[in-house]
Amino acid sequence: MAKIEIDDFLELVRNRRSIRNLKPDPVPDEVIEKILEAARWAMSGANGQPWEFIVVKDPETRAKIGALYEANWRAIYAIETSRAEDLKHQGFTTLPTGIPGFANAPVFVVVCADPRTYMATVLIAYLFDGEGGPKATYLKNVANATFMLQLATAASGLASQWVSVDRSLEGKLKALLEVPHELEIHTIVPIGYPAYKRPRPYRRKLEEIVHREKYDPSKYRTEEDIVAYVRHLRKTSRPAYKRPSGETWA
Ligand SMILES: Cc1cc2nc3c(=O)[nH]c(=O)nc-3n(C[C@H](O)[C@H](O)[C@H](O)COP(=O)(O)O)c2cc1C
Repeated sequence: MAKIEIDDFLELVRNRRSIRNLKPDPVPDEVIEKILEAARWAMSGANGQPWEFIVVKDPETRAKIGALYEANWRAIYAIETSRAEDLKHQGFTTLPTGIPGFANAPVFVVVCADPRTYMATVLIAYLFDGEGGPKATYLKNVANATFMLQLATAASGLASQWVSVDRSLEGKLKALLEVPHELEIHTIVPIGYPAYKRPRPYRRKLEEIVHREKYDPSKYRTEEDIVAYVRHLRKTSRPAYKRPSGETWA
């Protein structure tokens, strides 16, 4: 196996970006197949592999998905307005309008998953004392495949966005894509060439998040620290959601 230098890998990881507006230019099918192949190799608890992917290239279907997503913005925004101004989510300080930037992408990979595969894991994980609650392992499994898709996209010189699908949108998407009742839709991953460039966003420093041998209490954050942290996050990442026109991408 050809060895990948760790510094090259780090470069890839650091330079992968969530891009919220993609060019409509087509992407070769072979590249999409390799991206899907990478996702197939994601880790999952007990190798349960809950993921299934719907590759959507049809322009009409993509437009319908974009419109369904846009219709969801009003509800997200309405709830976000109840927060203090400096704590509102970056994408919803104003009501986003128009076609979502991701809808321009030539390909969407819709990440579906089958919760019944959870049966593969140890019983304790979903009966009562699982890591992080009853559905945790299953959700981590799906997230791993979603991230793998996006890392492979970046490795292919392309860009993507993690478009979360909430439950009300999920129902409409399932009907549109004829997904069986037992499966869930978690995320839409549009893939294409980036329509703009973004600098690296803020990340917490390594010394803030790494403890050596034992938890270092000097790094413990109080609730006030966390509120201040979210304020800081909002400030640093707001530009990532701004369109050149000043409006918001979501
Ligand atoms: C569980 C999860 C949900 C996310 N949901 C969305 C989303 O709905 N829309 C979006 O634009 N980005 C979403 N993101 C992407 C994050 O906003 C993004 O990773 C973060 O701001 C850091 O930016 P970067 O990916 O460019 O490093 C999500 C990421 C994760 C892991």
